[in-house]
Amino acid sequence: MTKLVIEGKTRLQGVVKISTAKNAILPIIAATLLTGEECQLDEVSDLEDVKTMKEVMDSIGVDINCDKDKLTVNPGKIKGNEPPYELIRKMRASFLIMGPLLARTGKVKISLPGGCAIGSRPIDLHLKGFAAMGASISLGHGYIEAQTQGRLQGKSIYLDFPSVGATENIMMAACLADGITIIENAAEEPEIVDLANFLNKMGAKVRGTGTDIIRIEGVKELNGVSHTAIPDRIEAGSFMVAAAASGGDVLIDYVIPDHMRPITAKLKEMGVHIEEYERSIRVKSTGIFNSVDIKTLPYPGFPTDMQAQMMAAMCSAEGTSMITETVFENRFMHIDELKRMGAKIKVHGRSAIIEGTPGILTGSKVKATDLRAGAALLIASLCAEGQTEISDVYHIDRGYVSIEDKFSKLGAKVYRIEE
Ligand code: UD1
Repeated sequence: MTKLVIEGKTRLQGVVKISTAKNAILPIIAATLLTGEECQLDEVSDLEDVKTMKEVMDSIGVDINCDKDKLTVNPGKIKGNEPPYELIRKMRASFLIMGPLLARTGKVKISLPGGCAIGSRPIDLHLKGFAAMGASISLGHGYIEAQTQGRLQGKSIYLDFPSVGATENIMMAACLADGITIIENAAEEPEIVDLANFLNKMGAKVRGTGTDIIRIEGVKELNGVSHTAIPDRIEAGSFMVAAAASGGDVLIDYVIPDHMRPITAKLKEMGVHIEEYERSIRVKSTGIFNSVDIKTLPYPGFPTDMQAQMMAAMCSAEGTSMITETVFENRFMHIDELKRMGAKIKVHGRSAIIEGTPGILTGSKVKATDLRAGAALLIASLCAEGQTEISDVYHIDRGYVSIEDKFSKLGAKVYRIEE
């Protein structure tokens, strides 16, 4: 079992370089299935989720190879359209191959997806989109089968909720459909804009990403291209909150400050000093900060993927905060772990009330219950008195590149221990 051991009460100082965004790279890898030509992805982050996506692609006959941080994907000879259950259940994002595979081969059999246990996470909106575009869909024995006679047909599709994955899956499928697809109430996340930039480089005609109406004019075929994904705004946000909570002074390098607005705004409200540059952000904190209320929302609202990290910081704030989770219904599993560290938190339905007190946290043995919960515990451990041991580190490795190295370079005492 792998553990992270952290000595508390360290002030982060220095420069941290952010990696490319996991949530941009995963759909982009899936999108390569739309062409028969080779694509090259540069500066690909060395993450467990990327490895899983690579295995998913490999399982259907895609030639996919990694040389350092360059990923070459050649989907010229797809052999199958039934990726194995063992891979799909490991990671929800693997479901993003459904749209491109359906558009390219006309047939897919795929198991219901898995991933972090942060709610029931249905895929009804993805399927509703494919069905509207003319695919026949059947569900049984934990599998979904989708088939289309000829090409998918462009349609107007209204999403009941601006789901990131459904927007991406439908958008990718629509690139090779006959006619025009309009996605209404689409998700507006920066990773969707990055995916559209990749698709458009391939020759697709996608307009309107970054707004809630996306228009895709189907084309006959797409070409192989190369691309570098955008910086990871959640990794950047995690370091910003860690710097703020630990009373640090950190330059977060390789970020798009515009993507960080919801986080920057909350940190400023906490009384943390923020300086924005073209591609970096400096976070300076005395370690004494105000409580804030947060409600998670689809972009440009406050990201659900930063909720746990902010809660960890709020435990040591001056005053009471309320955090309301509106995106996922079961994303409070970190609360029990934070309570082990001495945090005072009560849950009322989808809201958590955090009674912040500077110096309240003490080092304890805790468990990462999901990816972002793991990051939250690391942030809490920096503020805690004594030693913290985080187990189930594999959750953290899914989405953070060498987390202990990056934190150590900032002066944190973080050690990875294999038992
Ligand atoms: C993506 C991100 C994830 C982030 C989430 C919300 C990737 C690889 N993952 O996940 O890190 O936490 O966006 O910002 O980009 N829903 C339905 N029906 C559907 C699809 C979704 O009801 O068909 C619901 C979900 O249960 C959830 C909400 O919509 O309550 C948001 O989910 P969605 O935006 O789809 O998240 P993901 O794409 O899975």
